[in-house]
Amino acid sequence: MNKSAIITGASSGIGKALAFELARNGYDLFLTARNEDALQNVADECVKKIGVKVEIFTADLADSGATGVLIKAIAKRRFDVLVNNAGFGVKGNFAETNITEELEMLNVQLAAMLRLTKAVLPEMIEHKGGKILNIASVYSFSPVPMQAAYSASKAFMLSFSSALQDELKETNIQVSVVCPGITQTEFRTRAGIADKKNSGMTAEKVAAIAFAEMSKGKHVIVPGFQNKVFAFVSKHLPPSLITKFIRVINNIRGVNKKN
Ligand SMILES: NC(=O)c1ccc[n+]([C@@H]2O[C@H](COP(=O)([O-])OP(=O)(O)OC[C@H]3O[C@@H](n4cnc5c(N)ncnc54)[C@H](OP(=O)(O)O)[C@@H]3O)[C@@H](O)[C@H]2O)c1
Repeated sequence: MNKSAIITGASSGIGKALAFELARNGYDLFLTARNEDALQNVADECVKKIGVKVEIFTADLADSGATGVLIKAIAKRRFDVLVNNAGFGVKGNFAETNITEELEMLNVQLAAMLRLTKAVLPEMIEHKGGKILNIASVYSFSPVPMQAAYSASKAFMLSFSSALQDELKETNIQVSVVCPGITQTEFRTRAGIADKKNSGMTAEKVAAIAFAEMSKGKHVIVPGFQNKVFAFVSKHLPPSLITKFIRVINNIRGVNKKN
């Protein structure tokens, strides 16, 4: 019997690439996101080209009721891997951004992650094994002006993942947290972030590195040399300097430009 993985945000970008990566490595899939057609296309390709079993489940994780329905649907099911990937960014000065969007972002990236993790852990503990793969960001290591709530949510994911890994050290359950830098996905368009087209890594490359490093038991995974340097600098500069440094870089890249 194949192993099984549940992936949030599997309709595009890194989540979709992870769906193919896990399928190629012999996992049956349970894929969720809002866009049913896009999910179905990913599922059809995985079934036809790779031959794994795939279920899809549409849910808006910004809506706590819909997250509850998803959790009911997977109750008592055993998954070998949970990938908490769904997410989006909100850009702008915090004084001017839309608080509803920010709270929805926290629901998708944090509340849904916590609830899904709590939902799958009992079965993983009972079966003495499993992996949780959280998709955070290089921004987990630094406060980012103009993306204040987004970067803080990614810092939460990193901190939570490391504490959970310690709590689970007597079990055979591994928590890995991936901290990608710029990746070629829908993310920046959706967040209204202007940036050079096709800059950054491909989602496929990020997914391949994430799967390979998770399989080796790595806890914090930073894909690519440039991102490793960025993470190192972020960890070692005081907040007042790192925020200045990131603001300058993002101004040069046009990321902070008003839409
Ligand atoms: N791209 C980057 O540069 C970058 C860098 C660092 C970290 N990341 C992180 O990588 C993760 C994946 O993003 P991506 O780059 O692959 O962007 P993406 O192509 O926009 O994919 C985001 C995924 O999240 C799902 N999603 C968004 N809002 C949702 C909601 N309300 N309910 C359920 N699902 C929702 C989307 O599906 P539907 O729209 O179908 O719901 C989609 O499948 C995110 O957590 C992001 O923060 C991205």
